[in-house]
Amino acid sequence: MNPLNHVAIIMDGNGRWGLKHKNSRNAGHKAGLQTVEKIIKETIKNKIGYLTLYAFSTENWKRPKKEVNYLFNLLENFLINRIEELSKQNIKLKIIGVKKFSNKLNKIITHSEKKTSKNNKLQINLALNYGSKFELISAFKKLSKNNESINETNFEKYLQTKNIPDPDLIIRTGNTNRLSNFLLWQLAYSEIFFEKKLWPDFSIKDYNRIIKSFKKIKRNFGSI
Ligand code: FPP
Repeated sequence: MNPLNHVAIIMDGNGRWGLKHKNSRNAGHKAGLQTVEKIIKETIKNKIGYLTLYAFSTENWKRPKKEVNYLFNLLENFLINRIEELSKQNIKLKIIGVKKFSNKLNKIITHSEKKTSKNNKLQINLALNYGSKFELISAFKKLSKNNESINETNFEKYLQTKNIPDPDLIIRTGNTNRLSNFLLWQLAYSEIFFEKKLWPDFSIKDYNRIIKSFKKIKRNFGSI
């Protein structure tokens, strides 16, 4: 049985779910947040140390302003309303991505990260304004500026995921089989599960089914 220490998730399908059920993409994001809550609980139950959630990519800025504003409001309210409880559950929150948000959100993020920084049951990495290509180029630039020798250890110091183990398992919901500029370096040896269901329909049962399958995979890491 494979140990499972880090799950990463591309929570795709909110927009389609919202249009189908409520004629509104934003309603899908709201429903998606409920799935996030369920998955956090189940991740703790499964004693998994890290959960990385792709909440907003650098490309998502291309969406209509109304949707972008809705998503950021949802995130803000999630952090304002839930951070106390998450902290009580010994959860550490870390934002990965370029932290260029409104002053209000920047303050909420700083507060949330500081408040939970000593927690150690589960670390949630929320990818916000995250793009893997940008992360990689920034890391290369820092490496070359500091004139350091080019190797994996030096390079990884400059990634947003510094000190975070690579994901063992990546799940993408929403019936789309691509990585969408998410953790391209870190997923080099992760097991990839593409799930047909849209994120708001993704259940605890689905999550545990994938975890069970993951645990049975023979992971070679290039060996035999
Ligand atoms: C992708 O689905 C989903 C997003 C861009 C946003 C994810 C946000 C949430 C689940 C809610 C907030 C989360 C937290 C952690 C507070 P899509 O809109 O691209 O779906 P589509 O492919 O059907 O259009």
